[in-house]
Amino acid sequence: MATDPTKLSIVTYPEKVLRTPGKAVKEINDEVRAVAARMIELMYEAEGIGLAAPQVGLSWQMFVLDVPLGEGRSLADDPPTATDGPRVFINPKIAKFEGPSEPFEEGCLSLPDIRGDVLRPPVVTMTATDEHGKAFIIRAGGLLARCLQHEFDHLQGVLILDKMTQTARMKNRTAVRDLERSR
Ligand code: NI
Repeated sequence: MATDPTKLSIVTYPEKVLRTPGKAVKEINDEVRAVAARMIELMYEAEGIGLAAPQVGLSWQMFVLDVPLGEGRSLADDPPTATDGPRVFINPKIAKFEGPSEPFEEGCLSLPDIRGDVLRPPVVTMTATDEHGKAFIIRAGGLLARCLQHEFDHLQGVLILDKMTQTARMKNRTAVRDLERSR
C-alpha cells in the first residue's frame, strides 16, 4: 500500500498541500477505502463535520463528511440538511447551485482559531462516487450544502480565507498572520 493511513494527520495552513488542487482518484481500491476510513476517524477526533484529502497531506479528489442530525437539521428536509452517518465523496463535481448566496460563519480544521462569515449559495447539487465505486447524486441545503461546498473548495486548493467577507477578513487578520509565522 502506497499510503499508510495510520501515519496520516491533519495539516494546518500555510502547508503547501492545502493550496494544491487534488488529482482525480483513478481506482477506488482498498488503499482509498483505508484512507477514507482514517480520515473519518481524524474528523471525529477533531470534532469536525468534514475533512478533505489535502487536509491530511494528500492531493486527492476525495473528502469525507458527517453533518449530524439535530439543531433543526433533518433527513426529511427538502433538500436534506444533514447525513445519517459518515459519507465519502470521491471525484466530486458540482452540478448546480440554487439561490442567492448567504453569509454563515465557518471554521476549518486546517485553520485553527479562525472563524468568519463566508458567502455561499444555500442549495447545491453534487455528483460523486462513493468508497465502493458507486456513483451518486446529492442535492443538499442548510449546513450540509455549506459543508459540501467547503470540502469541495479544499480539493481546488481554495480555503475560507479566500471567500470570507471583508469584515471577517479584518477580524481574523492577526490570527492568519500568526499561523503564517508559526511555521
Ligand atoms: Ni476546511
